[in-house]
Amino acid sequence: MLQRAAAVTRMLCSSTSTSSSAAATTYVLMVDRDGNTDQIYGNVGDTLFDLVAKGTDMAKYLDCACAGKMLCSTCHVYVLNAPKNLKGPSEEEQDMLDIAYEPTEQSRLGCQLRLPPPSEGILKVQQPGGTVNHFR
Ligand code: FES
Repeated sequence: MLQRAAAVTRMLCSSTSTSSSAAATTYVLMVDRDGNTDQIYGNVGDTLFDLVAKGTDMAKYLDCACAGKMLCSTCHVYVLNAPKNLKGPSEEEQDMLDIAYEPTEQSRLGCQLRLPPPSEGILKVQQPGGTVNHFR
């Protein structure tokens, strides 16, 4: 079952990823529940879900149970440092955030956050104290 889910995730990632061999590399800073910071690399334009699907250390922090379809809120994070061109959540994203674990004004879905070019600032997010999974 777990292998099947991983295969589906890889398939979805390959069809949604914006990365290419020419994509610029950057990173996101993830602060865990204990306050430790992890620097996780990806390509400019990758979502935090893309990083999970690619098997980076982001998978330690986010479940992404619906594979980036905005159906679960298990990718909920708090944005601690927003790149200068970061837009606010869409109405659809906000609806999912409303039922996430302890949402705040800084809440976003990781599957909707893209790694910006470094010239726009470094995205820094924090893992919430828990998750709510309405997808299962
Ligand atoms: S991965 Fe499910 S809402 Fe983002």
